[in-house]
Amino acid sequence: MPKFRAPLLSLAGAAVAIAVFAGPGAAQDVPAAVKARQSQMQLYAFNLGTLGAMAKGEAEYDAEAAQGAADNLVALTSLAAGPMWAPGTDDMSIDGTRTLATMWDNFPDVMAKGTALAEAAGGMAAAAGTDLASLQAAMGPLGGACSACHKAYRAPE
Ligand code: HEC
Repeated sequence: MPKFRAPLLSLAGAAVAIAVFAGPGAAQDVPAAVKARQSQMQLYAFNLGTLGAMAKGEAEYDAEAAQGAADNLVALTSLAAGPMWAPGTDDMSIDGTRTLATMWDNFPDVMAKGTALAEAAGGMAAAAGTDLASLQAAMGPLGGACSACHKAYRAPE
């Protein structure tokens, strides 16, 4: 009875879709992998913010705090990221994420952008504890490495 198969399959598909997108509880269904990568990003932002505030003169330059933030960024770029970007966790497949599906189609470029960030963080770690001018000079490449990846693979808000 081939005629029955397609409707049954699409019903099964609908049941899965409802389970994933079910109403107000949906936020609780955000996969741990997504929460983990967003948490990593928050840690990036927090430490970049420490450096950025000093660079802009909003906070007094503090060599030790600057070095700490830069070292944190270096450590964060060294996390094994693969499991946090599990296939099927793009913004078309699930709620609660802004990662574009194209990220999974452009793996070498994503790696290159991750490497660019690691290099910029290394540059900051070499500069941040020296003096304010060195910190400021390292700020552009660092912020640029963040936004290059966001422009390519993060959906606008
Ligand atoms: C290799 C790509 C890449 C790099 C490099 C990168 N990001 Fe992201 N970032 C993303 C993607 C993709 C998202 C969307 C994550 C999601 O919602 O699944 C994101 C999300 C974020 C978020 C929002 C997190 C949340 O709670 O939803 C912040 C904040 C952020 N990034 C900050 C940074 C900062 C700061 C840097 C640089 C120090 C950086 N990112 C570098 C790809 C990147």
